[in-house]
Amino acid sequence: VLDIDGTVVIGEGERDEAPMLYIGEQVGAGWREGQSAPKVDIAVDPLEGTNLCATGAPDSIAVIAVADDGQFLNAPDTYMKKLAVGPEAKGAIDIRRSPTWNLSAIAEAKRCDVEDLTVIILERDRHNALIDEVRKAGARIRLIGDGDVAAAIATTNAKTGIDVLMGTGGAPEGVLAAAALRCVGGELQGVLQYRSEDERLRAERMGIKDHERVYRADELAQGQVMFAATGVTEGSLLRGVHFFGGGATTHSVVMRSKSGTVRFIEAQHHFDRKPDYDWMTWVRPQRPASKSSDK
Ligand code: FBP
Repeated sequence: VLDIDGTVVIGEGERDEAPMLYIGEQVGAGWREGQSAPKVDIAVDPLEGTNLCATGAPDSIAVIAVADDGQFLNAPDTYMKKLAVGPEAKGAIDIRRSPTWNLSAIAEAKRCDVEDLTVIILERDRHNALIDEVRKAGARIRLIGDGDVAAAIATTNAKTGIDVLMGTGGAPEGVLAAAALRCVGGELQGVLQYRSEDERLRAERMGIKDHERVYRADELAQGQVMFAATGVTEGSLLRGVHFFGGGATTHSVVMRSKSGTVRFIEAQHHFDRKPDYDWMTWVRPQRPASKSSDK
């Protein structure tokens, strides 16, 4: 158990009855024993791209990010319009402007033509107009079924062939993606998008006052941030979990904003030699009764 006094601030939903890793759960040895330990915020999505995993499609990942206490936006479980690019186009984008404007700006920053750019977009009806506009501008499109955290990270690595993420996905995923981009020097801008008045009110209860605000990556994930992801299915950046008799191999990336160091880790796990996991029950507190207003 890590020697931290951690609080899950982005987790398994506000409303569902997740047994663990729910928003507000406290984790780590520091919290358990009441000892002094670094107070940290944890943003986690144990399976980002549930459908991708269920169908064996690429880029399902397990993700976690850690920052000092109070440094992650406590993002409500709503949507966020996102625009993300890698380090080469950092400083060139503006989510308040049109996709066409942004594509020209990115092409200029990357010293290429708009036709050379590939835009990754979640395949959703709400993105039909965006897809039309990107096509008209001349850029290429990669549509994905799910997984815009991996998609945002893909913009930072030339190997993936992805230049920019555009479109609307989950707000909590926006915070996770921002943490990753803080580490590798990319840029993400996000604006919360509510699906209902109820979501807007819940955001207000979580302290969000300016609903039009453009959040930069360093506002979504402030201070010193650490980020790790492990591939679940094969992906553009990470290989998936491969099982062998009695164990499995995993492929992970670990990075931190302070140094910008990015480490890839290949691990072999032998299930019969793993410690038993009773400690998971041991550290887990009683889930507080949910407020009726959050139902
Ligand atoms: P889950 O892993 O929770 O299913 O999320 C997958 C995802 O595709 C995210 O990457 C993305 O931000 C969000 O869902 C988009 O939401 P929606 O499916 O409602 O368009």
